[in-house]
Amino acid sequence: MKGIVLAGGAGSRLHPITNAVSKQLLPVYDKPMIYYPLSVLMFGGIRDILVISTPTDLPQFERLLGTGEELGLNLSYAEQPQPNGLAEAFLIGADHVGGDSAALVLGDNIFHGPGFPAQLRRSIAELDGCVLFGYPVKEPGRYGVGEADADGRLISIEEKPARPRSNRAITGLYLYDNDVLEIAKQIRPSARGELEITDVNRAYLERGTARLIDLGRGFAWLDTGTHDSLIEASQYVQVLEHRQGIRIACLEEIALSMGYIDADACYALGAKLAGSRYGEYVMSIARAAGATA
Ligand code: DAU
Repeated sequence: MKGIVLAGGAGSRLHPITNAVSKQLLPVYDKPMIYYPLSVLMFGGIRDILVISTPTDLPQFERLLGTGEELGLNLSYAEQPQPNGLAEAFLIGADHVGGDSAALVLGDNIFHGPGFPAQLRRSIAELDGCVLFGYPVKEPGRYGVGEADADGRLISIEEKPARPRSNRAITGLYLYDNDVLEIAKQIRPSARGELEITDVNRAYLERGTARLIDLGRGFAWLDTGTHDSLIEASQYVQVLEHRQGIRIACLEEIALSMGYIDADACYALGAKLAGSRYGEYVMSIARAAGATA
């Protein structure tokens, strides 16, 4: 499976913070926002990842993440000149996906919960059509909203409905078989002028091959779309990291735990960040895993 992180857009709801900086590079407590969606793809075992952003912001992502080789990843980069909609990721990323299946994650979505990596890997292994992840929210009308039958089959989906049929928001993580490339080509701009991912998902629904997995109450799917939700996401990460002494979405640790890099390589990455608590953490987990340095 190939991965795509969509990290473009104007970030207008966060102006003036995002006037000169990409939203997805803003800090969520101790690391840039894009680390969180990237960690999701890594947990899914996905190593070939395309990062899509605006022509202005893309060089900053490249500066931050490089080729990905140090993390055992293969990162590539592509421009989205205008925010024409989420489904455009599959037009821009068609060559990257090739004949493979694909996971799209939005660069501003944060997922955290027990058992999530295992659930994700199971969903990828069993993928037949498309898999969406639903999450109960107080204001579903702000999101894509879906309904599933008792077997988890998607039976309705709407984008920002005035009268939502359920409280299940469709989160910004989408798993598709290779048909997504053909389906995305057929999508036409919506009334708000965007190539809607919800229309891609509806095409799968009509084929009867769309599944909606419930992330449930104990899970955290965090928004970063407003000044308040951005700081709340940081506070969530801060509370868990302080209490447990762990780090959420620490890419070096995940690369080590997935077997993409060994303990010595992990230690070397931590040493590069020495002077920060984050770097010290990376070195400490590398040492615990047997790094010889
Ligand atoms: O976060 C989940 C929601 O994301 C879903 O529930 C909705 O169905 C889906 O349409 C989307 O809704 P949003 O209104 O949150 O989408 P937004 O336009 O804010 O874009 C989400 C992120 O993707 C944002 O960080 C900007 C980026 N983006 C957006 C567009 C339209 C791009 O990189 N390129 C784009 O063309």
